[in-house]
Amino acid sequence: MKAVRFSRFGGPEVLEVVDLPDPHPGPGQVRIAVKAAGVNASDWKKRSGLMDEELPRTLGYEAAGVVDELGDGVTDVAIGDRVFGFSGRGAGQAELAVLETYAPIPSSLGFPEAAALPAAIETATRAIDQLGVKGGTALLVNGASGVIGAAAVQLAVARGARVIGIASPANRDYLRSLGAEPVAYGAGLSERVRAVAPEGVDTALDVAGNGILPELIELAGGASHVVTIADFAGARETGVHFSRGEDGRAIHALAEIGELVDSGRFSLPVAQTFPLADVAEAHRVGENGRPRGKLVVVID
Ligand SMILES: NC(=O)c1ccc[n+]([C@@H]2O[C@H](COP(=O)([O-])OP(=O)(O)OC[C@H]3O[C@@H](n4cnc5c(N)ncnc54)[C@H](OP(=O)(O)O)[C@@H]3O)[C@@H](O)[C@H]2O)c1
Repeated sequence: MKAVRFSRFGGPEVLEVVDLPDPHPGPGQVRIAVKAAGVNASDWKKRSGLMDEELPRTLGYEAAGVVDELGDGVTDVAIGDRVFGFSGRGAGQAELAVLETYAPIPSSLGFPEAAALPAAIETATRAIDQLGVKGGTALLVNGASGVIGAAAVQLAVARGARVIGIASPANRDYLRSLGAEPVAYGAGLSERVRAVAPEGVDTALDVAGNGILPELIELAGGASHVVTIADFAGARETGVHFSRGEDGRAIHALAEIGELVDSGRFSLPVAQTFPLADVAEAHRVGENGRPRGKLVVVID
């Protein structure tokens, strides 16, 4: 099968599409014929050697496709089913991928839209679970217009939370369409949030990682009311929790999203799709641009 791989660290040019042996699922796993796979910021961090030393390395944590082989004990899906989920081996950008965790693709979604979901909804769900967001919570989301921010806003609104979203003024209407009250980032942020929520907020989620944890702590009434997924150094300095997959992934998000998607209460935009052979271009767009939505590689 063809798969994305790199054998040395560097720019997008180190990415290759190579032939690798077909993988086979272990107990409880399924293999899919991949139709689409998400591209994430962690892909170019790994490719640049910023995350670990592992070489050669395949890429792709999230994928969507059609089940073509079942591991021992799998009874909840059948060959031919459309599923989406996580490749624990990080090898989803390939013609075939083994998924360790998976769920049926919501019926209203195509493969690229489904491949855009797993990392965003797992990360957003994990973070708002850690913050204890429920009906009536006032949640502030910094970076609310991005992929994970937009997921967090919609998932919190679906729980009955009040959400205030921080993003650029250009994304004001987009935030409203997600169900958030928009506030622009930049100087005077705390005053603008207090104009909307005079008592402050109950909790705050930092997705943008632009160094404003002290303001979020002040607005939410303490570091224990704030979670960041993007500001590692700031978290260490302030005592805010840095949420990561090692905390325990919120896998339940995969099975829960179908109802929200099919009832029109949740969607994430796909900014651009790329053939597998053009994965290097997807990295260039992701690293250099500000795509509104997810980058996805597709396989015919
Ligand atoms: N810890 C984890 O488990 C985990 C998992 C996945 C991803 N991540 C990390 O999460 C981060 C966000 O990922 P994403 O896919 O959601 O990114 P994204 O789609 O590119 O969104 C970035 C967001 O940041 C905002 N932003 C950009 N510059 C800003 C600034 N100067 N001030 C305030 N906000 C600013 C953008 O707002 P505008 O567009 O409105 O300007 C947008 O809302 C990345 O750093 C990624 O590595 C962490």
